[in-house]
Amino acid sequence: MLRDDALKGKTIVVTGGGSGLGKSMTRYFLELGARVAITSRNLEKLENTAKELSAETGGECLALACDVRHYDQVETMRDQVIAHFGKVDILLNNAAGNFISPTERLSANAFDTIIDIVLKGTKNCTLAFGKHWIDQKQENTNVLNIVTTYAWTGSAYVVPSATAKAGVLAMTRSLAVEWAKYGMRFNAIAPGPFPTKGAWDRLLPGDLKEKFDLAKKVPLKRVGDHQELANLAAYLVSDFSAYVNGEVITIDGGEWLKGAGQFNLLEAVPEEMWDMLEAMIRARKSK
Ligand code: HXC
Ligand code: NAP
Repeated sequence: MLRDDALKGKTIVVTGGGSGLGKSMTRYFLELGARVAITSRNLEKLENTAKELSAETGGECLALACDVRHYDQVETMRDQVIAHFGKVDILLNNAAGNFISPTERLSANAFDTIIDIVLKGTKNCTLAFGKHWIDQKQENTNVLNIVTTYAWTGSAYVVPSATAKAGVLAMTRSLAVEWAKYGMRFNAIAPGPFPTKGAWDRLLPGDLKEKFDLAKKVPLKRVGDHQELANLAAYLVSDFSAYVNGEVITIDGGEWLKGAGQFNLLEAVPEEMWDMLEAMIRARKSK
């Protein structure tokens, strides 16, 4: 979507960059000329991804282990990226944990685990990189957070994730204002359904995939393509979006609005019934 070399000279850190959407966004950033550090808990997975994407794109991709739940690990990762690339311009908070469960079945630790990865992890990375940029007086930096559409609607059966993503959205909008004076931008993307192994194994295990075909919830009648998300992410981290700050952009084919609109269920009314319904409504006028 963006022109060649649109991200040339930029160094980007992608948390959770070894798999799923993080990997797809990393691939496109590399294609556009960025240097990218990918981080998560599983170093072997990261190294394989870095090797694969470097070979595919010719770009430079660095793999570093870092559990975002631990601030000391995040600071170490930040220092390693800077030692390797010289600087960081962009932080993409993409790492997440999630699984479906009735809330009453969750232990306190299960709830904490999701909050710790999603909300505390985003806070840890944002603080570590933000403080560094402020100390160094480095401007023209930005943070992109991956949330979900249920960050504002809430959602049953994924309550820790909804709670954490709502916090991340509040952090995005708050810091977009507070830290703009340091030359930082903060934005978020709220994806609808984009098939990944990590999400599908935990949200649609077994035959739930067939029983709850998420494409059917989407007005466009399909799930998202990873490149569509990567296009949006590349735009938001690039200088082409320099005046976009504090925004959350939904990319879901209209899914959440379909669930929200009170009369959207009338889609189920067959075309041939509308003549009769119209006649019934018009008949009321004369009474
Ligand atoms: C109930 C569960 C559980 C389950 C784990 N726990 N799975 N409780 N139902 N299915 C409990 C454990 O018993 C334990 O509590 C606590 O949660 C922590 O579990 P651990 O396995 O020790 O945690 P950890 O090894 O840190 O793994 C974290 C994880 C795991 C979140 C549980 O799934 C993971 O690593 N996920 C990372 C990738 C991921 O989730 N990707 C999907 C993102 S999709 P006790 O009390 O027993 O100690 C997304 C949005 C998608 O975010 C929206 C789609 C439209
Ligand atoms: P995924 O492949 O499971 O990605 C999650 C990543 O987070 C993994 O690479 C995982 O790597 C990493 N991670 C988990 N815990 C971590 C920790 N403690 N520290 C560091 N890294 C950690 O799933 P995905 O679908 O691509 O999700 C990516 C993002 O998109 C998430 O923010 C998710 O909420 C969001 N999202 C996805 C969808 C969708 O339809 N797929 C929809 C809405 C939002 P390790 O296991 O190696 O640590």
